[in-house]
Amino acid sequence: MPRYHKLGDIPHKRHTQFRKPDGTLYSEQLFGTIGFDGMYSNSYHVHRPTMVKDIKKQYSVAPKIALENNIKSYRFRGFQVAPVDDYLESRKAVLTNSDCTIILSAPRHSLKDYFYKNTDADELLFVHKGTGKLRTHLGNLDFKYGDYLLIPRGMIYQIDFDTEDNRLFIVESRSPIYTPKRYRNWFGQHLEHSPFCERDIRVPYELETHDELGDFVIKVKKKDEIIEMVYASHPFDVVGYDGYNYPYAFSIHDFEPITGRIHQPPPVHQTFETDTFVICSFCPRLYDYHPQSIPAPYNHSNIDSDEVLYYVDGDFMSRNDIDAGHISLHPAGIPHGPHPGAAERSIGQKGSDELAVMVDTFKPLMVTEEAMKIADEDYYKSWLEDH
Ligand SMILES: [Fe+2]
Repeated sequence: MPRYHKLGDIPHKRHTQFRKPDGTLYSEQLFGTIGFDGMYSNSYHVHRPTMVKDIKKQYSVAPKIALENNIKSYRFRGFQVAPVDDYLESRKAVLTNSDCTIILSAPRHSLKDYFYKNTDADELLFVHKGTGKLRTHLGNLDFKYGDYLLIPRGMIYQIDFDTEDNRLFIVESRSPIYTPKRYRNWFGQHLEHSPFCERDIRVPYELETHDELGDFVIKVKKKDEIIEMVYASHPFDVVGYDGYNYPYAFSIHDFEPITGRIHQPPPVHQTFETDTFVICSFCPRLYDYHPQSIPAPYNHSNIDSDEVLYYVDGDFMSRNDIDAGHISLHPAGIPHGPHPGAAERSIGQKGSDELAVMVDTFKPLMVTEEAMKIADEDYYKSWLEDH
């Protein structure tokens, strides 16, 4: 993704005079990625987006590593991460490497008192619990259970939650997150065999334009530090923009699973790609229909990628004792597969109501101190018959 999108008022030609009702110029901003080679948008601001008044606190939010070189399979009980009032403070990194960080978050309150901008990474927020509105300087998106919210690096945002009961599974990626190239034709349009298409992608629909001067704090994340910057104008002061670089939403419930006569491999579930990891959606689907098929997956050695599964809902057929909010980590280098009894149990079953998000990273993940607080230390023995 994404595709060309236009919201609000823009001039006929880019880089030309575009004036406010009082005759002064709007401030144009090219918001680009990968130098000037990547996706970009052109936005028009009431005030200059460059008016830094002050730079205040600067502090590290780097994940604290507990296990640097891990070969043990783990289960983490994600819902044991305690709810926290503040959105940023609620984000607990559980797994990380130099390419990405996987975060669990249970924010109780909306992010209203400051603005947030991640310059290190694209952020993918998967909404496990909660409804509300993601508000950005390039427009707003409503969200609910099952939504992926893709927030490209540099977007300034706030979040409104409707209630205090919210659970997010977040992936930060240091390389851009796109939909898989093999799903798209040479124009970028999603092909017929893609499990989703443009119609399923929700783009920002509502632009807030605040013509306000004052003190506006943006907490900017850079190199795993938060830097509190005070700007002289409201960050949401755009009257219009167009381009390809903006946040968007996609519901996991709009992912159309691909099934077959025999077991289909994980790539059929792929939803997003980066240079360094992939994200897959395991959705309710009919099982394999060959008369001799075994719907449970075969044992597999993901010899050079770590596999993280976040269990959202339903009965995950290949695993015993897995609940919503759990994460399994199956590290590179060793095989894993169905739990004892799961293969036989799956035979003859017609379908699955499982819902899960998978992150397969090409570099090993380190386990953080936060993860160890919610870890099942014995999970790695769970393939033994008598476990
Ligand atoms: Fe696996």
